[in-house]
Amino acid sequence: MSKNRAPLIVGNWKATPKTLDEGIKFIKSLEKKVASPKYKLPKKTYHIAAPSVFISSLTPHTKRGEIGAQTFDGVVLGQHTGQVTPEQIKSTGATFTIIGHSEVRKRGETQAERKEKVLAALKNKLTTIVCFGEATRDKEGKYLGELEGDIKETLHDVPRELFNNLVIAYEPLWAIGSKEPATPSECFEVVIAIRRALASLSGIDYAKKVNILYGGSVTKESSKAFLEEGGVDGLLIGRASQEVTSFFEIITSCHN
Ligand code: PGA
Repeated sequence: MSKNRAPLIVGNWKATPKTLDEGIKFIKSLEKKVASPKYKLPKKTYHIAAPSVFISSLTPHTKRGEIGAQTFDGVVLGQHTGQVTPEQIKSTGATFTIIGHSEVRKRGETQAERKEKVLAALKNKLTTIVCFGEATRDKEGKYLGELEGDIKETLHDVPRELFNNLVIAYEPLWAIGSKEPATPSECFEVVIAIRRALASLSGIDYAKKVNILYGGSVTKESSKAFLEEGGVDGLLIGRASQEVTSFFEIITSCHN
């Protein structure tokens, strides 16, 4: 990890658990574990991106963590059946949201919508985790240039004073939901490209300090190496965050 601060550990529950009761039980159990003096964990140790309908019922149970959204559908209030706006998300107690996760983009989220959502989330003072990542890699490394281009295009219109609430997640599509994560060195070279793109948008000081996460098949075994050798400041975890024990093991291994 590049900075002297606690790693940002973000669980992405996706469409789990089955019921709100299960979600509350999970949070209560995790809270008990992270509060144990045995582990000497910092005050805030985890973030969970939960299904939006659960957020307001989970936040009263969180002392050592924060609950956020996985996305939202609309950016304006009004006559839009079935849509949820960032103001509404924020009013449930969410402190952050993910935007542009590849599973959302696969369902049809366009680049223009992603840009609009990033801006709307930041204007509503939600910490905004924006996902980027290549679908495949080519030997010549063209994917790095494409990724930098994608970052610049997505964030170009964001006023610079809102940049402090941005977090970038590097999520190679080929690693999400698979058996194989990227290697820490594969991650490291992309993190350099991400910081280069951010430096061109907002200066080198900003690019050095912005939090970057790695996501894609993170397990307790692989988690720490990303922080130590992969150049990232935290992790975005899918499957391994959907079970209390594996999520807690990642939290403790990253904080030690
Ligand atoms: P995974 O998911 O950890 O299950 O690969 C990561 C993600 O989709 O953010």
